[in-house]
Amino acid sequence: MKTYMVKITIDGKELEVPEGTVIIQAALENDIHIPHYCYHPDLSIDGNCRMCLVEVEGMPKLPIACATPVADGMVVHTKNENVTKAQESVMEFLLINHPIDCPICDQAGECGLQDYYMNHGLHNSRIGLREKVLKRKVIDLGEMIVLDTERCILCSRCIRFFDEVTHTGELQFYKRGDRTEIGTYKDQPIDNSYSGNVVDICPVGALTSKDFRFKQRVWFLKGTKSVCPTCSTGCNIRIDHTKGVVFRLVPRRNPEVNKSWMCDKGRMAYPLINGENRLKYPMIRNGENLEPSPWEEALDRVVKELKKIKEESGPEAIAGIASPQGTNEDLFLFKKWIREGIGTSLMDFRVNDEDKKVREMEDSILRRKDENPNTRGALALDLVPKNGGLDTKGILTAVKEGKIKGLYLQRPIDHFPDKTLLKEALEKAEFVVMHATHNGEGMRAAHVVLPSCTYAEKDGTFTNYEDRVQQIHRAFPPIGESRPDWEIFRDLLVHFGVSLSFPTAQDVFLQLSKEERAFQGMTLKGIGDLGRRISS
Ligand code: SF4
Ligand code: FES
Repeated sequence: MKTYMVKITIDGKELEVPEGTVIIQAALENDIHIPHYCYHPDLSIDGNCRMCLVEVEGMPKLPIACATPVADGMVVHTKNENVTKAQESVMEFLLINHPIDCPICDQAGECGLQDYYMNHGLHNSRIGLREKVLKRKVIDLGEMIVLDTERCILCSRCIRFFDEVTHTGELQFYKRGDRTEIGTYKDQPIDNSYSGNVVDICPVGALTSKDFRFKQRVWFLKGTKSVCPTCSTGCNIRIDHTKGVVFRLVPRRNPEVNKSWMCDKGRMAYPLINGENRLKYPMIRNGENLEPSPWEEALDRVVKELKKIKEESGPEAIAGIASPQGTNEDLFLFKKWIREGIGTSLMDFRVNDEDKKVREMEDSILRRKDENPNTRGALALDLVPKNGGLDTKGILTAVKEGKIKGLYLQRPIDHFPDKTLLKEALEKAEFVVMHATHNGEGMRAAHVVLPSCTYAEKDGTFTNYEDRVQQIHRAFPPIGESRPDWEIFRDLLVHFGVSLSFPTAQDVFLQLSKEERAFQGMTLKGIGDLGRRISS
């Protein structure tokens, strides 16, 4: 259907916007801020808070910008005297019964009421503290949420989220007039897998996160743009952290991928980054035990043992299994390492049908069955056997039969479904190298374990289920001596005499975009903050 464009002017700025757009949307998309509470770009319009009043030339009263569609030739003012006066009145009305408990409110620093009060408030209250309507505070609404009904400005964003996105309808308004309260029926806990989103969209301190509250002041946190690695949807996120510790993950709006949402499973995966059992040093097997070792010693051991197997039994006696947890940059250098370093094409990345699950939905909102962020990247990079070559099962069978002697695993593969074959293969292998982010059972079979950093500690790109390449950024340096996978493969390639120079992940991407057909012509600038599909 053809989209007609209309010309409007907001605060003297001439804009061309699609017909049907509401004024607030046209303004926000063109960096003109109109104060608002109940409007949310990914929810229906309710027009209840009246904070977005603007003046439109020719209209007798001030309309609300969130429910007024643009019209050709419309002239809008968002900051003149009439508008400012109206906004001050709305703020006064919203604050009539507000407890003004900012010093003990966990929303401080990211509260719509506080922010707009500084611009549109600053009046002396005409209502004394004793006259305020008191409401219930600190109501436990299950695993994720704490509710303070006194702070609620009744914008209904949270109600609309549960009605329109999860279709679970837990929250409703109860009572009437100035006694109106938000809540669940008989304070029942909210139990759905997307509940954390209402904390993000509540513009005030009424709904706060049980996990995050009082752990850190938001002005001490730094936000780094990233992508959730817990399934193949690739929801855009922000990692909020300070001093190398992550305090929360929140969704970052991408209308094409996750709108403004993320699932609770992805949201609550951040402790893994901070985890006490992170692997911080390379480990080398000594008898029954794995012992910490310097990087050079660990890499020398890997190079020595693999060279020995290659010389004695040929490159086909070594195979690699990549991990779709890695970035495109990690996987590109994994492939180079196996092909050009070792000299074999024996490799796969599929351990438990990741390629079949990558587009299958786990629920009806965002989550997919494949728990990896980069399965499509591994497929685009051709990390699968060709012409009847051995897949992961075939490789493990050949290891068990003694035909393959060296095994290079980019991650532990404990999730391989045939546990007996896996155990027998790992026992039989002459030399097993493994990368790992955490200490764990899977490491027991390795002769050398190399510590990889997590996605929060490196730059790179993931390719999601619909072949959208999206960037992740390093929030802080790798923990301990861990390193990005691509750096480990780069150093091994150099040890094997392959000359290359990739100081950064950006350099690896540049080379990848030259060598790999699927990524040809892509640039990190073109991918930007919202990603770009391989085919576009
Ligand atoms: Fe709005 Fe928050 Fe109140 Fe829900 S709890 S109606 S999001 S202010
Ligand atoms: Fe327009 Fe609330 S944002 S009425």
